[in-house]
Amino acid sequence: MKHWKLERDNDGLAWATLDKADSSTNVLSAEVMAELGQVLDACDREPPKALIFRSGKEAGFIAGADIKEFSTLDTPQKARGIVRRGWDLYNRLAAVRYPTLALVRGHCMGGGTELALACRYRIAVDEPGTKFALPEVMLGIVPGWGGMLRLPQLVGPAAALDMMLTGKGISARRAKRMGLADECVPPRVMESAARMVALSGRPPYRPPLLQRLMNAAPLKSFVAAQAKKQVARRARQEHYPAPYAIIDMWQNYGGNGLAVPSNAPTSLDAIVGSKTTRNLVRVFHLQERLKGFGKEAADFAPQRVHVIGAGVMGGDIAAWCARRGMIVTLQDQGVERIAPAIARAAEAYRKSFRSERDPDKQVRFVLDRLIPDPNGDGVRQADVIVEAIFENLDAKRALFRDIEARAKPDALLASNTSSLRLADIAQALKNPARLVGIHFFNPVAKMPLVEVVQGAATDESAAKRAAAFVRRIDKLPLPVKDAPGFLVNAVLAPYLLEAMRCVDQGIAPETVDAAALAFGMPMGPIELADTVGLDVAMAAGKGLAGAAEPPRKLAELVAGGHLGRKTSRGFYSYANGKAVRAAAGAPPPGLAGRLVQPLLAATQQCVANGIIADADLADAGVIFGTGFAPFTGGPTNYMKAQGG
Ligand code: NAI
Repeated sequence: MKHWKLERDNDGLAWATLDKADSSTNVLSAEVMAELGQVLDACDREPPKALIFRSGKEAGFIAGADIKEFSTLDTPQKARGIVRRGWDLYNRLAAVRYPTLALVRGHCMGGGTELALACRYRIAVDEPGTKFALPEVMLGIVPGWGGMLRLPQLVGPAAALDMMLTGKGISARRAKRMGLADECVPPRVMESAARMVALSGRPPYRPPLLQRLMNAAPLKSFVAAQAKKQVARRARQEHYPAPYAIIDMWQNYGGNGLAVPSNAPTSLDAIVGSKTTRNLVRVFHLQERLKGFGKEAADFAPQRVHVIGAGVMGGDIAAWCARRGMIVTLQDQGVERIAPAIARAAEAYRKSFRSERDPDKQVRFVLDRLIPDPNGDGVRQADVIVEAIFENLDAKRALFRDIEARAKPDALLASNTSSLRLADIAQALKNPARLVGIHFFNPVAKMPLVEVVQGAATDESAAKRAAAFVRRIDKLPLPVKDAPGFLVNAVLAPYLLEAMRCVDQGIAPETVDAAALAFGMPMGPIELADTVGLDVAMAAGKGLAGAAEPPRKLAELVAGGHLGRKTSRGFYSYANGKAVRAAAGAPPPGLAGRLVQPLLAATQQCVANGIIADADLADAGVIFGTGFAPFTGGPTNYMKAQGG
């Protein structure tokens, strides 16, 4: 066998190790699945005392199906074929007479989780990287290899549907708590624990009675209705058919996707035939392409980051970098300006470590890496220096002059500016080729994209190192050119302006936002304007959309000091951080189209002007930078589909 190794030890245990040839991660290609059939054949011929599955890779257990293969799933027959292959094989695995166990260390995704579910036992290795997930829904497909059948039976339908409908990952400890893993053990004892559990003869885990009852009538339909309601809040069926199909397949077809008649709206045929699935797979590939930019300067391994400006952005950038393992020094004009940023970071860390072992200790470890540095001593040792002070050209120039004189010669110098030209800032430097833009979005912890700005003078290698740094801290780098608003703000500004013009024309903000949500935006443009701040929106409108006259209502609000969420009043009033809204009226026909039109046009313009290298990357940037309806595959893809 090319990908699997089957060994038997003196205790009569068989160890099946997956180490996919020519690949750094284990994916379940057609070949890997065929060989798994051979593993089972061999065990049929000579049954072991128990069979243990493990990974031969450093990185993780199994990453899931081979997505390259299902990009070619253009006919329902092919889709059914691939589902049947996994469904049958895992049913065969689940039915063997000898005990089976999956020893899961690192990521365990999709078909990997389904393989583990088909085993009698599962052991999760207690490491931060260990995560069980069924993320199929994010690609617009369903866990058709038994996940919809076995996960609800094992952990109860509420937790199972939550995992399948959100795609989110479950840590080793959580897996143990919910019954997904029989044991959660440290790495040094994982093999002996696997051996012990596999030979223990203990009955397979069964969930508590209530969970079992919820898997059967009459509670089942109640659980399904609840789940549908929750999904409807986030995704409409016409945009995202997969989550609805998952609920239906679980509720009515025993989790067997093959059993749904092909003319039903929740059938495999309907899902594979939908544009959404194609577009979500496209978005997945775009994301991989962005990740690829981080690999072009593979030898750059920054460890020390110095951030200047501990405000909204700088404070959060520093906190994020420390959380991702960097040693960070944070500079501002005085300790009193740095302290609030550290307090905010501590709060965020406490939340993020909440469900892990010894959270206080973990928070302390990260906070130890986030060092207040009012004198800027960190500049001398930093590998990356990120400037995030006020948006003021002279101040930034003076700062960079000073930094250049003190920084290591090979340190990367970066500005987080949103609206200044990099070239103008770079003039202050003796060597302007060193300066790049590393443009984060607000809120830093939530937004996956970071624009990497290459100015006219910026050295190619500096831009590549910047992208490598962005990847190191687990963000998606998007290379853009130095032009007002780069890509993301340049496409957002005209969209927000159009929305505010609609309000000026008497359409209620609620109606405008509802039309955008119905289109598939994550947040309405009016609420978004309130969230970024109306002063910022006003400046962006002037600078980016070339608006001679700002929208009337916007100007009034800003003049009255109502700047949106941060002053508790903007287009909406805010109580406890939430917008107080009236019911939305019926949107006038074509409103959504009118709203997105300026965004689409601006995206095209950015491609035409070379701000971004090509239309695919523009789509990636707008999706990951603004949340633009992912099921459309991005603005240019959407325009193509509309025949535009
Ligand atoms: P902010 O006003 O919250 O924070 C700026 C901080 O810089 C203040 O704490 C100030 O004391 C400090 N500072 C000013 N001059 C300094 C100097 N010479 N040395 C040390 N510290 C100094 O500003 P914010 O919003 O964080 O913006 C910072 C930068 O990030 C700007 O260039 C802005 O364009 C950019 N940006 C802002 C976004 C946002 O949503 N607020 C989004 C993306 C980029």
